Amino acid sequence: MPFSNVYIPGAGFMGSAIAFLIASKTDATVTLLDVYPDALERAKKAVDKYGKSSVEKGFLPQEKLDELKSRIHYTDNNKDAVHADLVIEAIAEDVKVKQELFRHLDHTCKPETVFASNTSSLSITTLAAATKRPDKFVGLHFFSPAHVMKLLEIIPGFDTSKDTLDRVTAFGQQLGKTIITSKDMPGFITTRLGLVLVNEAAFCLMEGLSSAEEIDTGMTLGYNHPMGPLALADFIGLDICLHIMETLYAGYGDPKYRACPLIRQLVAAGHLGKKTGRGFYQYNKN
Ligand SMILES: NC(=O)c1ccc[n+]([C@@H]2O[C@H](COP(=O)([O-])OP(=O)(O)OC[C@H]3O[C@@H](n4cnc5c(N)ncnc54)[C@H](O)[C@@H]3O)[C@@H](O)[C@H]2O)c1
Repeated sequence: MPFSNVYIPGAGFMGSAIAFLIASKTDATVTLLDVYPDALERAKKAVDKYGKSSVEKGFLPQEKLDELKSRIHYTDNNKDAVHADLVIEAIAEDVKVKQELFRHLDHTCKPETVFASNTSSLSITTLAAATKRPDKFVGLHFFSPAHVMKLLEIIPGFDTSKDTLDRVTAFGQQLGKTIITSKDMPGFITTRLGLVLVNEAAFCLMEGLSSAEEIDTGMTLGYNHPMGPLALADFIGLDICLHIMETLYAGYGDPKYRACPLIRQLVAAGHLGKKTGRGFYQYNKN
């Protein structure tokens, strides 16, 4: 059975793009929820921007844009989730905050509602354990920007049922994504591989192998990566990179995942990357 009512807590960067993606590729009604009215306002603007650019690039007719926007709703009331067939959570990357939200939604939503988290690194099994529906709980890891990136990483938790997996896989295909499936291990496939490269690049810089620019050029020209690992880390946010390395280290207990001290130092100094104007590189904040 397709999902016709999708509810997305977290109207931030990821939530707004996921909402636009779902409304543009399916007939579903999509509701964005956020605790901050300002975030809902920003989400509306983001959806407008994605729509405008899709029309300009010829991906979407104007009439379709008006119609799909009429199916995206915005709310700060959790109770609206009573109608959801599918919840895709995209709030802050904090296990306690996510568990608290899912515990709450478990009471509000219908028993058959499927729960998904867009977490980049947290355990799906641990999040599912906050609910009484671990069989209907799954990881749906979208990439940024969600309406453009082709990949969807699906992570079944320890108790996710085959039916849930089949349904979200069909949904991902409807969204036009190429799907990979990963076991529920820390960092799954993509975050583990991506962050290990970032961390190792930071070690190369700290050990004085070369400059940030040359390390990045090594990967852009030598391996055809669209962006070097240090520039990527600045784009993601060094605080987020550190948090993910700590999750990997705690999860595997393997020293190969120890966070590079240079990343720790930059975070301690408040140099978090592009968003603060300085990370491995210096940015013009305007
Ligand atoms: N940014 C990325 O590139 C990226 C990529 C893949 C996955 N993710 C994951 O997606 C999730 C969201 O990331 P983001 O970058 O969009 O963050 P963001 O900070 O842009 O947005 C998070 C939103 O959640 C809201 N929020 C916080 N607690 C809430 C609650 N209890 N109920 C409702 N809303 C709440 C915040 O007000 C904020 O608007 C994280 O788990 C992150 O790891 C991010």
